[in-house]
Amino acid sequence: MKKILFSMTLSLILMSPIFAVTDSDLKQMNQESRQIVQNFAKNLKGELKAAMKKGGPVNAIQVCNEKALEITSNESKISGVTLSRTSLKIRNSKNKPEAWEKDVLQQFAERKMKGESPKKMEFREIVELNGKKQFRYMKAMGISQPCLHCHGEKALPDVNDKLLKLYPDDKARGYKLGDIRGAIVLIKDLK
Ligand code: HEC
Repeated sequence: MKKILFSMTLSLILMSPIFAVTDSDLKQMNQESRQIVQNFAKNLKGELKAAMKKGGPVNAIQVCNEKALEITSNESKISGVTLSRTSLKIRNSKNKPEAWEKDVLQQFAERKMKGESPKKMEFREIVELNGKKQFRYMKAMGISQPCLHCHGEKALPDVNDKLLKLYPDDKARGYKLGDIRGAIVLIKDLK
């Protein structure tokens, strides 16, 4: 599926004169975006782990709350891209998916149902918006053990209280190991 989508995008680009993006540009963008998103996920997990070690999951809530934004904006400055996180079941309404992001999240859910692991699940496309090209990349985020503290079926009482206070409309609970929690989104405006 991934390959098909990718080669469809590629042949569209090659056939269409409005796209000046070359095959090698696209390959480079794919590698770049994968790297940036991997770094982001790694940094965030590192921050989470450190905060949990220091003060337990209740302390780490702040990492997911503030650090995620900080890390995304740092990464964005470095590489001229926009990074964000989204999900079909959001905790913070700021992370609500755009229509196209929701489509991709639904495709991810279908791929998972057909047996694909979320670990390597990706999506990419190039679209044209108001005469400008945009590269879009999404990478699924699976639920691993540490995520369960705050996104699982049961949270410790202090964690529960803090989450309820910060996010009265929280939908991001009740996940199990291996579920797709959401995705990291990378957008790059092309020349
Ligand atoms: C210590 C608690 C905690 C842990 C552990 C945690 N999260 Fe979160 N997560 C949060 C909070 C708080 C938010 C809301 C962040 C915000 O306000 O933008 C959030 C938001 C998210 C979002 C953005 C979408 C949304 O619902 O708003 C994703 C995706 C996400 N978490 C994935 C994960 C994954 C994957 C893991 C495990 C690697 C994880 N989280 C572990 C607390 C946690």
